[in-house]
Amino acid sequence: MSNPKYADRLPDELPADPMHWADAWIKEATASEIQRNPNSMTLVTVDADANPSARVVLCKEFIPDPGYLVFYTNYNSRKVKDLEQCAKVAAVFHWDALGRQIRIEGLAVRSPEAESDAYFTTRDWGSQLGAWGSDQSEVLASREDLIVQLRERAARLGLSLSDDLLSLRGTEQPTIERPPHWGGIRFWASAIELWIEGKDRIHDRGAWKRELIRASEHTFNVTPWVGTRLQP
Ligand SMILES: Cc1cc2nc3c(=O)[nH]c(=O)nc-3n(C[C@H](O)[C@H](O)[C@H](O)COP(=O)(O)O)c2cc1C
Repeated sequence: MSNPKYADRLPDELPADPMHWADAWIKEATASEIQRNPNSMTLVTVDADANPSARVVLCKEFIPDPGYLVFYTNYNSRKVKDLEQCAKVAAVFHWDALGRQIRIEGLAVRSPEAESDAYFTTRDWGSQLGAWGSDQSEVLASREDLIVQLRERAARLGLSLSDDLLSLRGTEQPTIERPPHWGGIRFWASAIELWIEGKDRIHDRGAWKRELIRASEHTFNVTPWVGTRLQP
């Protein structure tokens, strides 16, 4: 059910809490079951030579206050190698059926280890094993090589996979530790835009900015959001 507070138009006086709007939109997209992964977002990173690259990841947590989101990935992947060179990131969510888009820009840092551990335990064993089994973004000679690698790594963890890889032989849900190369990335927002589709391309756009001041390895202090309205 749509919350009328976060309705089809931005109010004349732009809200001071755009991250709460974004959070409500993600929740509405999830509740309305309009697509399989309503929390998917296209994430853009840049490498040391400023070459941009984009890919879809899943936003697993959205924390409006103080204002960051979390996605999980392989720390040896191309995207994280990029982030280590340049922490600046951008992402876009789009729900065609709702006529809404959210653009976010900001800075990425790793999540605290304990947070990644806690999230890893919530994943099913297949996904946990997958985190050990794939060297994300590395070159692979064949699909078969990946299966062999997966079986070898499962064996190293003391697990034996069925032929179809869909179940484990002779064990219940095993305890699988989080691999050190896999975990969360906190994406702190320094800019956000809420876009609402309008008739005849007269869309509604509100854009907000704020400063991020590094406070610790995982956190920033933030200034209040300053909002402006943009032409569509
Ligand atoms: C719907 C969807 C969800 C995805 N979610 C994630 C994710 O949460 N984390 C992730 O690392 N990759 C995810 N991927 C795969 C990435 O798009 C990408 O292929 C992978 O992370 C490697 O990217 P990189 O080589 O640029 O690092 C997802 C792909 C799709 C299509």
